[in-house]
Amino acid sequence: MAAITTIEDLKRMHKRRTPKMFYDYAESGSWTEQTFRENTSDFDKIKFRQRVAVDMTNRTTATTMIGQEVSMPVALAPVGLTGMQSADGEIKAARAAEKFGVPFCLSTMSICSIEDVAAKTEKPFWFQVYTLKDDDFMKRLFDRARAAGCSAVVITLDLQIMGQRHKDLKNGLSAPPKFTLASMADLATKWPWGIEMLQTKRRFFGNIVGHAKGVSNPASLASWTAEAFDHALDWERVAELMKMWGGPVILKGIMDADDARKAAELGADAIVVSNHGGRQLDGTVSSIRALPAIMEAVGDKVEVHLDSGIRSGQDVLKAIAMGAKGTYIGRAYVNGLGAMGQKGVTKALEIIHKELDTTMALCGRRDINNVDRDILMVPEDFEGRWA
Ligand SMILES: Cc1cc2nc3c(=O)[nH]c(=O)nc-3n(C[C@H](O)[C@H](O)[C@H](O)COP(=O)(O)O)c2cc1C
Repeated sequence: MAAITTIEDLKRMHKRRTPKMFYDYAESGSWTEQTFRENTSDFDKIKFRQRVAVDMTNRTTATTMIGQEVSMPVALAPVGLTGMQSADGEIKAARAAEKFGVPFCLSTMSICSIEDVAAKTEKPFWFQVYTLKDDDFMKRLFDRARAAGCSAVVITLDLQIMGQRHKDLKNGLSAPPKFTLASMADLATKWPWGIEMLQTKRRFFGNIVGHAKGVSNPASLASWTAEAFDHALDWERVAELMKMWGGPVILKGIMDADDARKAAELGADAIVVSNHGGRQLDGTVSSIRALPAIMEAVGDKVEVHLDSGIRSGQDVLKAIAMGAKGTYIGRAYVNGLGAMGQKGVTKALEIIHKELDTTMALCGRRDINNVDRDILMVPEDFEGRWA
């Protein structure tokens, strides 16, 4: 392939190299995928103000997220099943992030376990938890994250029940993949993926299988998942979980100003404006559209981060200019991982960094910490008038 210059290039390679069920798992949203699509297309509606004759020497994209130094305000979002996109995928992604100087957040639903990632990395990473009913299991998860030196916990609030992605049902998504005629035919064209996968033992949900009561094999996992998520979750329970962890907490999945106020009141270190990359409530607005009202409500009370739809450094800059202190990428790095393993994640980060840095310069700014709303032209009706 010719030079890789965009996340879209990595996405094409990801599609060619990874079994269809895992590529589809990443590249889909719930139901009609309207929110999934608008997460990206809404970024395109925001324009930059080009400035000239401004000194652009000594630029920096370095800043902090929850007080931790980052080389650019972009973390790797928690993504389930990453170790199925490429063998030991979570370890590869965490290593790429650590070398680049950005946070890596491990999902509860990862293939490599907390301990696996800790053993293969040097710097602390973040750990994402879903809100589960089982207190014992939650406590043990937190203990394991503490023992692994995790420097923050991300509590995901927008997945008490799961949004439906049609493709996953049609493809019979499972980890490891079940051998059906269709999956075998597909795997036959993806043999380098298969060979790598045969060389690792990490092919199941490493944080759960063998750790949750009654889940000793992958077959028992499906029923555990259906039972385990706390449908009765409320803010009191969120406060309990924050206390149980006792360290820095980021609350993820906030799309509404009232919820943002509540999260700020509870003393979260940051909130993530996120609709789970369009994988949960289809028909809700894009996260970039939800950002201004949330900034207005809590911008001076809590650090605000954003994800969903970021595919370039320009998108990162738009989110930062609209007030976010940090952003996360999900699919953009998963595309890199599926395309070329650890090198691909590094490539995704390099692409995003270059786009961010160059765009910032052409907007007349040298320091990401001095970027503000002035660099943008946002349509007057961007947020929409909703009754
Ligand atoms: C394949 C996939 C799996 C995901 N798994 C999780 C997860 O386990 N926990 C979580 O909090 N969010 C999960 N997310 C949501 C991401 O953390 C993030 O919110 C989303 O990917 C951001 O949108 P983007 O992919 O457009 O960047 C997942 C997203 C994708 C694409």
